Amino acid sequence: MSARLAAVRCIVEVLARGRMLDEVIPGAVTALSARDRALAQEISYGVLRWYHRFDPVVDHLLHRPMSPADLDVKVLLLAALHEIEHLRTPDHAAVSEAVEGARQLGKPWAAGLINALLRRFLRERANVFAALNSAPEVRYSHPGWLIEALRGDWPDHWEQILARGNEHPPMDIRVNARHCPRDEYAGRLAAAGIPSRLSTLTDCGLRLAGAANVQELPGFDAGAVTVQDLAAQLAAPLLEVKPDQRVLDACAAPGGKASQILEACPAAKLVAVDRGPDRVRLLAQNLKRLRLSATLIDGDAARPEHWWDKRPFDRILLDAPCSATGVIRRHPDIKCRRGQEQLPRLAKIQAALLDALWPLLAPGGRLLYVTCSLLRRENDAQIEKFSASHKDVRVLPITSTWGIATTWGRQSLPSVDDTDGFYHALLERR
Ligand SMILES: C[S@@+](CC[C@H](N)C(=O)[O-])C[C@H]1O[C@@H](n2cnc3c(N)ncnc32)[C@H](O)[C@@H]1O
Repeated sequence: MSARLAAVRCIVEVLARGRMLDEVIPGAVTALSARDRALAQEISYGVLRWYHRFDPVVDHLLHRPMSPADLDVKVLLLAALHEIEHLRTPDHAAVSEAVEGARQLGKPWAAGLINALLRRFLRERANVFAALNSAPEVRYSHPGWLIEALRGDWPDHWEQILARGNEHPPMDIRVNARHCPRDEYAGRLAAAGIPSRLSTLTDCGLRLAGAANVQELPGFDAGAVTVQDLAAQLAAPLLEVKPDQRVLDACAAPGGKASQILEACPAAKLVAVDRGPDRVRLLAQNLKRLRLSATLIDGDAARPEHWWDKRPFDRILLDAPCSATGVIRRHPDIKCRRGQEQLPRLAKIQAALLDALWPLLAPGGRLLYVTCSLLRRENDAQIEKFSASHKDVRVLPITSTWGIATTWGRQSLPSVDDTDGFYHALLERR
């Protein structure tokens, strides 16, 4: 199978079945050479990144709408447009590869259509975009509902947030200082030909100059480092965990924040909960690589009566399921998989998790509420509602230099520190 065909299959899984791109890619590219694997990934991520810009272009150039049964043909066209506009594929090669793709899909009837449509695009490119660019979806390559929501929630930032959402994400790592001090590790990276710079946002973060294979990172298998966006590294320090404190990580898999808590304070008693054996297995694997230990529970964090031993926690991290609108540049499939209609259900789950976990906190204890959402209704609005309905809640200020202070918490933004967008609110039980 060619790289393009593998990419088409992955994108169809996302668009037609709502599957996560990260989950479908590995299985689809195993038989490809390293070069083709990289191309398949670039096309898959790129098409979903630019889907809202190019899908209307294809619709505009088609004489009649394409049947849902031919979504694969449409995706071939989207892939060719992405290659023409953003990759270094020569125009004629992008066209002929797409035509060949139709044959490989077993749809030779589509070859002529693809050829004609792409050639027309090449001739009329400027006019096509001039005709379509007034639509916000085309101009910003994000779904309309999200553009509107961001414009409302971030009147001074929304356009920059959208622009950043279409960029390739940087690769950040977290250095386990117990293995090796961060600046020394940066030296080891440089010696391995991987330039990086120290982050000023966290004391364990490094930003690599470009993407690297994790197996090339010195000491990766021995637990020296973890791949983690700088903004995801901001939560653990806010909890200020001390030795012997009982800490609950309620939505813990794959364990990025749980492992950071333990690296900083191995004597903490960490209970890590997630739902489903696959998630808990992933958590266990990551902790094992990092030589860390915690009590792992496969359970529903919203139903602690099934797993809690009635001993209160000094710290609770609630990294709640959310729209993931803050990590779009890393996971562009979110733009196609998430819809406005899912927000009320997500908000209900977040509120239920807060309500269920609060009684597990000791008086004087702290709960950190985190999402990777940029939307107020999942962030400040949740904390406002929760603190208004619980007399024993004190919302603590987060005095940091990163991101932006919101009414109840603090938000990191891709447009401010060039990080993912994470929301944090720190609550103390009176
Ligand atoms: C944003 S991810 C957590 C990331 C993790 N904290 C980290 O830093 O690596 C959210 C997690 O919540 C889990 N989850 C969602 N609903 C849950 C529930 N009711 N109980 C337990 N875990 C849940 C999901 O399986 C997912 O692993």
